[in-house]
Amino acid sequence: MTVVVEAKNLRQVYKIRRGMFREPAQLQAVGGVSFAIEAGRTLAVVGESGCGKSTLARMVSLIEKPTEGSLMLDGSDAVNTPAADRKRLRQAVQLVFQNPYGSLNPRKKISAVLEDPLAINTTLDAAQRAEKSRAMLAQVGLRPEYAARYPHMFSGGQRQRIAIARALMLNPKLLVADEPVSALDVSIQAQVLNLLADLQSEFKLAFLFISHDLAVVRHIAHEVLVMYLGHVMEQGPKDKLFSRPLHPYTNALLASTPGVGGRNVQRIVLKGELPSPLNPPSGCVFSSRCPYAVERCRAERPLPRPVDERIVACHFAEQFLESGFGETPATPGFPEPAAVDNVFLAG
Ligand SMILES: Nc1ncnc2c1ncn2[C@@H]1O[C@H](COP(=O)(O)OP(=O)(O)O)[C@@H](O)[C@H]1O
Ligand SMILES: [Mg+2]
Repeated sequence: MTVVVEAKNLRQVYKIRRGMFREPAQLQAVGGVSFAIEAGRTLAVVGESGCGKSTLARMVSLIEKPTEGSLMLDGSDAVNTPAADRKRLRQAVQLVFQNPYGSLNPRKKISAVLEDPLAINTTLDAAQRAEKSRAMLAQVGLRPEYAARYPHMFSGGQRQRIAIARALMLNPKLLVADEPVSALDVSIQAQVLNLLADLQSEFKLAFLFISHDLAVVRHIAHEVLVMYLGHVMEQGPKDKLFSRPLHPYTNALLASTPGVGGRNVQRIVLKGELPSPLNPPSGCVFSSRCPYAVERCRAERPLPRPVDERIVACHFAEQFLESGFGETPATPGFPEPAAVDNVFLAG
Protein backbone atom coordinates (compact mmCIF):
# COMPACT_ATOMS: atom_id res chain seq x y z
CA MET A 1 0.00 0.00 0.00
CA THR A 2 1.00 3.61 -0.49
CA VAL A 3 2.16 5.53 2.54
CA VAL A 4 0.37 8.90 2.34
CA VAL A 5 1.91 10.54 5.38
CA GLU A 6 4.92 9.71 7.48
CA ALA A 7 5.83 11.68 10.59
CA LYS A 8 9.11 11.17 12.39
CA ASN A 9 9.72 12.54 15.84
CA LEU A 10 7.37 15.52 15.45
CA ARG A 11 7.83 17.99 18.26
CA GLN A 12 6.12 21.30 19.01
CA VAL A 13 7.38 23.64 21.70
CA TYR A 14 5.54 26.89 22.38
CA LYS A 15 7.20 29.85 24.00
CA ILE A 16 5.02 31.39 26.69
CA ARG A 17 5.83 35.01 27.52
CA ARG A 18 6.13 35.83 31.21
CA GLY A 19 6.61 39.59 31.24
CA MET A 20 9.32 41.83 29.89
CA PHE A 21 12.34 40.75 31.85
CA ARG A 22 11.90 37.04 32.21
CA GLU A 23 12.86 34.39 29.75
CA PRO A 24 9.80 32.91 28.02
CA ALA A 25 8.73 29.55 29.44
CA GLN A 26 8.84 26.55 27.14
CA LEU A 27 5.73 24.45 26.79
CA GLN A 28 6.25 21.19 24.95
CA ALA A 29 2.82 20.40 23.52
CA VAL A 30 4.02 17.44 21.43
CA GLY A 31 7.22 15.71 22.43
CA GLY A 32 8.31 13.51 19.55
CA VAL A 33 5.56 11.58 17.80
CA SER A 34 6.12 9.23 14.86
CA PHE A 35 3.65 7.39 12.66
CA ALA A 36 2.80 6.48 9.09
CA ILE A 37 -0.65 6.22 7.52
CA GLU A 38 -1.36 4.32 4.32
CA ALA A 39 -4.05 5.15 1.77
CA GLY A 40 -7.42 3.86 2.93
CA ARG A 41 -6.33 3.56 6.58
CA THR A 42 -7.21 5.45 9.77
CA LEU A 43 -4.87 6.32 12.59
CA ALA A 44 -6.77 7.52 15.63
CA VAL A 45 -5.03 9.73 18.18
CA VAL A 46 -6.55 9.54 21.66
CA GLY A 47 -5.84 11.11 25.00
CA GLU A 48 -7.25 13.54 27.51
CA SER A 49 -7.78 17.21 26.80
CA GLY A 50 -4.48 19.07 26.65
CA CYS A 51 -2.32 16.09 25.65
CA GLY A 52 -1.37 17.67 22.33
CA LYS A 53 -3.88 16.18 19.86
CA SER A 54 -4.87 19.43 18.18
CA THR A 55 -1.26 20.58 18.06
CA LEU A 56 -0.39 17.37 16.23
CA ALA A 57 -3.34 17.96 13.88
CA ARG A 58 -2.10 21.48 13.09
CA MET A 59 1.41 20.23 12.30
CA VAL A 60 0.18 17.41 10.07
CA SER A 61 -2.24 19.69 8.22
CA LEU A 62 0.58 22.21 7.57
CA ILE A 63 -0.97 24.98 9.67
CA GLU A 64 2.02 25.00 12.04
CA LYS A 65 5.62 24.14 11.42
CA PRO A 66 7.01 21.62 13.91
CA THR A 67 9.83 22.75 16.17
CA GLU A 68 11.57 19.53 15.24
CA GLY A 69 10.99 16.38 13.28
CA SER A 70 10.13 15.46 9.73
CA LEU A 71 6.89 15.11 7.86
CA MET A 72 6.58 13.45 4.47
CA LEU A 73 3.27 14.00 2.75
CA ASP A 74 2.32 12.43 -0.56
CA GLY A 75 5.98 11.73 -1.27
CA SER A 76 7.35 15.21 -0.51
CA ASP A 77 9.00 16.94 2.41
CA ALA A 78 6.20 18.89 4.08
CA VAL A 79 8.41 20.78 6.57
CA ASN A 80 10.96 22.27 4.20
CA THR A 81 8.81 22.15 1.13
CA PRO A 82 10.24 23.21 -2.22
CA ALA A 83 8.11 26.08 -3.56
CA ALA A 84 7.00 23.97 -6.51
CA ASP A 85 5.37 21.42 -4.16
CA ARG A 86 3.60 23.80 -1.77
CA LYS A 87 0.30 24.20 -3.53
CA ARG A 88 0.00 20.48 -4.22
CA LEU A 89 0.74 19.60 -0.58
CA ARG A 90 -1.74 22.17 0.73
CA GLN A 91 -4.40 20.45 -1.35
CA ALA A 92 -3.28 16.96 -0.40
CA VAL A 93 -4.23 17.44 3.25
CA GLN A 94 -7.54 18.87 4.46
CA LEU A 95 -8.83 19.48 7.95
CA VAL A 96 -12.27 18.95 9.49
CA PHE A 97 -12.88 20.57 12.88
CA GLN A 98 -15.08 19.77 15.84
CA ASN A 99 -17.39 22.72 15.39
CA PRO A 100 -18.77 22.81 11.84
CA TYR A 101 -20.68 26.05 12.44
CA GLY A 102 -17.58 27.96 13.48
CA SER A 103 -15.74 26.74 10.40
CA LEU A 104 -18.51 27.61 7.91
CA ASN A 105 -18.91 31.27 7.01
CA PRO A 106 -22.55 32.12 7.92
CA ARG A 107 -22.81 34.63 5.06
CA LYS A 108 -21.79 32.16 2.37
CA LYS A 109 -24.25 29.89 0.61
CA ILE A 110 -23.26 26.23 0.59
CA SER A 111 -22.60 26.51 -3.14
CA ALA A 112 -19.94 29.14 -2.45
CA VAL A 113 -18.51 27.17 0.49
CA LEU A 114 -17.95 24.21 -1.81
CA GLU A 115 -17.07 26.00 -5.02
CA ASP A 116 -14.64 28.65 -3.77
CA PRO A 117 -11.77 26.15 -3.37
CA LEU A 118 -12.37 25.08 -6.98
CA ALA A 119 -12.45 28.68 -8.22
CA ILE A 120 -9.13 29.39 -6.52
CA ASN A 121 -7.28 26.18 -7.28
CA THR A 122 -8.65 24.75 -10.51
CA THR A 123 -9.44 25.88 -14.04
CA LEU A 124 -13.02 24.56 -13.90
CA ASP A 125 -15.64 27.02 -15.18
CA ALA A 126 -18.72 28.06 -13.19
CA ALA A 127 -20.98 25.35 -14.60
CA GLN A 128 -18.40 22.64 -13.91
CA ARG A 129 -17.88 23.94 -10.37
CA ALA A 130 -21.62 23.91 -9.70
CA GLU A 131 -21.89 20.39 -11.03
CA LYS A 132 -19.03 19.17 -8.90
CA SER A 133 -20.42 20.76 -5.72
CA ARG A 134 -23.85 19.21 -6.30
CA ALA A 135 -22.28 15.83 -6.89
CA MET A 136 -20.28 16.18 -3.68
CA LEU A 137 -23.41 17.08 -1.71
CA ALA A 138 -25.01 13.88 -2.93
CA GLN A 139 -21.86 12.00 -2.00
CA VAL A 140 -22.13 13.16 1.63
CA GLY A 141 -25.84 12.30 1.76
CA LEU A 142 -27.34 15.78 1.24
CA ARG A 143 -29.77 16.95 -1.43
CA PRO A 144 -28.16 18.91 -4.32
CA GLU A 145 -30.67 21.75 -3.92
CA TYR A 146 -29.20 22.46 -0.48
CA ALA A 147 -26.45 24.29 -2.38
CA ALA A 148 -28.65 27.39 -2.40
CA ARG A 149 -29.02 27.49 1.39
CA TYR A 150 -26.99 29.05 4.20
CA PRO A 151 -25.19 27.16 7.01
CA HIS A 152 -27.68 28.20 9.72
CA MET A 153 -30.43 26.31 7.92
CA PHE A 154 -28.80 22.97 8.72
CA SER A 155 -28.56 20.72 11.75
CA GLY A 156 -25.21 20.00 13.41
CA GLY A 157 -24.86 16.66 11.64
CA GLN A 158 -25.71 18.19 8.26
CA ARG A 159 -23.23 21.00 8.81
CA GLN A 160 -20.53 18.45 9.55
CA ARG A 161 -21.43 16.69 6.28
CA ILE A 162 -21.00 20.04 4.50
CA ALA A 163 -17.62 20.58 6.16
CA ILE A 164 -16.59 17.10 5.01
CA ALA A 165 -17.82 17.84 1.48
CA ARG A 166 -15.79 21.04 1.43
CA ALA A 167 -12.69 19.19 2.62
CA LEU A 168 -13.04 16.70 -0.24
CA MET A 169 -13.56 19.21 -3.09
CA LEU A 170 -9.88 19.24 -4.06
CA ASN A 171 -9.39 15.46 -3.90
CA PRO A 172 -7.10 15.32 -0.86
CA LYS A 173 -5.04 12.26 0.02
CA LEU A 174 -5.20 12.83 3.77
CA LEU A 175 -8.08 14.02 5.91
CA VAL A 176 -7.21 15.28 9.38
CA ALA A 177 -10.34 15.24 11.52
CA ASP A 178 -10.02 16.89 14.94
CA GLU A 179 -12.88 15.66 17.16
CA PRO A 180 -15.23 15.71 14.14
CA VAL A 181 -18.20 14.10 15.92
CA SER A 182 -17.64 15.25 19.51
CA ALA A 183 -20.22 18.03 19.26
CA LEU A 184 -22.90 15.75 17.79
CA ASP A 185 -25.59 13.62 19.44
CA VAL A 186 -24.58 9.99 19.79
CA SER A 187 -27.18 8.84 17.23
CA ILE A 188 -25.86 11.36 14.68
CA GLN A 189 -22.24 10.47 15.50
CA ALA A 190 -22.69 6.97 14.11
CA GLN A 191 -24.12 8.31 10.84
CA VAL A 192 -21.23 10.70 10.32
CA LEU A 193 -18.70 8.00 11.21
CA ASN A 194 -20.32 5.64 8.70
CA LEU A 195 -20.19 8.38 6.08
CA LEU A 196 -16.49 8.92 6.76
CA ALA A 197 -15.85 5.18 6.45
CA ASP A 198 -17.71 5.05 3.12
CA LEU A 199 -15.83 8.06 1.75
CA GLN A 200 -12.57 6.54 2.90
CA SER A 201 -13.08 3.35 0.96
CA GLU A 202 -14.43 5.14 -2.10
CA PHE A 203 -11.57 7.67 -2.34
CA LYS A 204 -8.83 5.60 -0.66
CA LEU A 205 -8.34 8.43 1.84
CA ALA A 206 -5.88 8.28 4.70
CA PHE A 207 -7.39 9.59 7.96
CA LEU A 208 -5.73 11.10 10.97
CA PHE A 209 -8.68 10.93 13.31
CA ILE A 210 -8.50 12.75 16.61
CA SER A 211 -10.80 11.96 19.48
CA HIS A 212 -10.87 11.78 23.24
CA ASP A 213 -13.64 9.17 23.01
CA LEU A 214 -12.59 5.53 22.72
CA ALA A 215 -16.12 4.45 21.82
CA VAL A 216 -15.82 6.58 18.68
CA VAL A 217 -12.28 5.43 17.99
CA ARG A 218 -13.30 1.78 18.17
CA HIS A 219 -15.75 2.48 15.37
CA ILE A 220 -13.34 3.99 12.89
CA ALA A 221 -9.67 3.29 13.68
CA HIS A 222 -7.31 0.77 12.18
CA GLU A 223 -4.35 1.97 14.21
CA VAL A 224 -4.43 3.81 17.54
CA LEU A 225 -1.92 6.19 19.11
CA VAL A 226 -2.43 6.96 22.79
CA MET A 227 -0.92 10.26 23.96
CA TYR A 228 -0.32 11.68 27.40
CA LEU A 229 1.23 15.11 28.02
CA GLY A 230 2.56 15.22 24.48
CA HIS A 231 4.19 11.78 24.54
CA VAL A 232 3.20 8.48 22.97
CA MET A 233 2.24 5.93 25.62
CA GLU A 234 1.12 3.10 23.36
CA GLN A 235 0.66 2.82 19.61
CA GLY A 236 -0.41 -0.03 17.37
CA PRO A 237 -3.26 -2.03 15.83
CA LYS A 238 -6.64 -1.17 17.32
CA ASP A 239 -7.53 -4.76 18.15
CA LYS A 240 -4.30 -5.24 20.08
CA LEU A 241 -4.75 -2.09 22.17
CA PHE A 242 -8.43 -2.64 22.84
CA SER A 243 -8.25 -6.32 23.68
CA ARG A 244 -5.00 -6.31 25.60
CA PRO A 245 -3.60 -2.88 26.47
CA LEU A 246 -0.02 -2.96 27.72
CA HIS A 247 0.31 0.57 29.07
CA PRO A 248 -1.46 1.41 32.34
CA TYR A 249 -2.70 4.64 30.77
CA THR A 250 -4.31 2.84 27.81
CA ASN A 251 -5.88 0.48 30.31
CA ALA A 252 -7.20 3.39 32.39
CA LEU A 253 -8.71 5.08 29.31
CA LEU A 254 -10.42 1.85 28.27
CA ALA A 255 -11.64 1.20 31.80
CA SER A 256 -13.23 4.65 31.95
CA THR A 257 -15.13 4.16 28.66
CA PRO A 258 -18.18 1.94 29.15
CA GLY A 259 -18.53 -0.96 26.78
CA VAL A 260 -15.17 -0.86 24.99
CA GLY A 261 -12.80 -2.82 27.21
CA GLY A 262 -11.92 -6.41 26.39
CA ARG A 263 -11.51 -9.21 28.89
CA ASN A 264 -8.03 -8.07 29.77
CA VAL A 265 -8.99 -4.56 30.74
CA GLN A 266 -8.94 -4.10 34.46
CA ARG A 267 -10.12 -1.08 36.31
CA ILE A 268 -7.19 1.17 37.05
CA VAL A 269 -7.97 4.19 39.12
CA LEU A 270 -5.80 7.14 38.18
CA LYS A 271 -4.32 9.12 41.02
CA GLY A 272 -4.30 12.89 41.25
CA GLU A 273 -4.66 15.56 38.62
CA LEU A 274 -3.30 15.95 35.14
CA PRO A 275 0.05 17.75 35.55
CA SER A 276 0.78 20.99 33.70
CA PRO A 277 2.81 20.58 30.52
CA LEU A 278 4.83 23.57 31.76
CA ASN A 279 6.06 21.43 34.61
CA PRO A 280 5.91 17.78 33.55
CA PRO A 281 6.90 14.99 35.96
CA SER A 282 10.47 13.71 35.73
CA GLY A 283 11.06 10.29 34.24
CA CYS A 284 7.87 8.83 32.80
CA VAL A 285 5.41 11.70 32.29
CA PHE A 286 2.62 9.39 33.46
CA SER A 287 4.41 8.40 36.68
CA SER A 288 2.62 10.93 38.92
CA ARG A 289 -0.75 9.31 38.14
CA CYS A 290 0.25 5.71 37.54
CA PRO A 291 -0.72 3.24 40.28
CA TYR A 292 2.25 1.02 39.31
CA ALA A 293 4.93 3.71 39.35
CA VAL A 294 8.13 2.92 41.24
CA GLU A 295 11.37 4.81 41.78
CA ARG A 296 12.70 3.87 38.37
CA CYS A 297 9.65 5.38 36.66
CA ARG A 298 10.26 8.76 38.30
CA ALA A 299 13.96 8.66 37.43
CA GLU A 300 14.10 7.29 33.92
CA ARG A 301 11.80 8.03 31.01
CA PRO A 302 10.79 4.81 29.24
CA LEU A 303 11.40 5.11 25.52
CA PRO A 304 8.76 3.72 23.18
CA ARG A 305 9.79 0.21 22.13
CA PRO A 306 8.21 -2.72 20.31
CA VAL A 307 6.31 -5.17 22.52
CA ASP A 308 3.76 -7.68 21.21
CA GLU A 309 3.20 -6.07 17.78
CA ARG A 310 2.85 -2.53 19.04
CA ILE A 311 4.95 0.25 20.56
CA VAL A 312 4.79 0.81 24.31
CA ALA A 313 6.53 3.41 26.48
CA CYS A 314 6.46 1.68 29.86
CA HIS A 315 9.30 0.00 31.75
CA PHE A 316 7.00 -2.87 32.66
CA ALA A 317 5.20 -3.55 29.38
CA GLU A 318 6.61 -7.09 29.09
CA GLN A 319 5.50 -7.92 32.61
CA PHE A 320 2.02 -6.56 31.95
CA LEU A 321 1.90 -8.74 28.82
CA GLU A 322 2.85 -11.78 30.86
CA SER A 323 0.73 -11.31 33.94
CA GLY A 324 -1.90 -8.67 33.22
CA PHE A 325 -2.52 -5.65 35.39
CA GLY A 326 -4.22 -7.24 38.34
CA GLU A 327 -2.43 -10.47 39.13
CA THR A 328 0.72 -11.00 41.12
CA PRO A 329 3.59 -10.34 38.75
CA ALA A 330 5.74 -13.30 37.79
CA THR A 331 8.93 -11.32 37.43
CA PRO A 332 10.98 -10.47 40.50
CA GLY A 333 11.20 -6.74 41.06
CA PHE A 334 7.80 -6.13 39.52
CA PRO A 335 6.15 -3.21 41.29
CA GLU A 336 3.28 -3.79 43.68
CA PRO A 337 0.15 -2.25 42.22
CA ALA A 338 -0.94 0.53 44.51
CA ALA A 339 -4.54 1.21 43.54
CA VAL A 340 -5.95 -1.55 41.41
CA ASP A 341 -9.21 -3.20 42.05
CA ASN A 342 -9.79 -6.41 40.21
CA VAL A 343 -13.07 -5.65 38.54
CA PHE A 344 -13.41 -6.93 35.02
CA LEU A 345 -15.53 -4.65 32.91
CA ALA A 346 -18.38 -6.07 30.91
CA GLY A 347 -18.04 -6.02 27.12
N1 LIG B 1 -0.60 28.26 20.43
C1 LIG B 1 -0.31 27.80 21.65
N2 LIG B 1 0.51 28.49 22.47
C2 LIG B 1 0.83 28.02 23.70
N3 LIG B 1 0.39 26.85 24.20
C3 LIG B 1 -0.43 26.11 23.43
C4 LIG B 1 -0.82 26.55 22.12
N4 LIG B 1 -1.64 25.59 21.59
C5 LIG B 1 -1.75 24.62 22.53
N5 LIG B 1 -1.03 24.94 23.64
C6 LIG B 1 -0.88 24.09 24.83
O1 LIG B 1 -0.37 22.84 24.39
C7 LIG B 1 -0.96 21.78 25.10
C8 LIG B 1 -1.65 20.84 24.13
O2 LIG B 1 -2.79 21.49 23.62
P1 LIG B 1 -3.71 20.84 22.47
O3 LIG B 1 -2.86 20.41 21.34
O4 LIG B 1 -4.79 21.81 22.17
O5 LIG B 1 -4.31 19.56 23.22
P2 LIG B 1 -5.64 18.70 22.93
O6 LIG B 1 -6.09 18.99 21.54
O7 LIG B 1 -5.20 17.28 23.13
O8 LIG B 1 -6.64 19.11 23.97
C9 LIG B 1 -1.90 22.40 26.10
O9 LIG B 1 -1.22 22.52 27.33
C10 LIG B 1 -2.18 23.77 25.51
O10 LIG B 1 -2.47 24.70 26.53
MG1 LIG C 1 -8.00 19.59 20.84
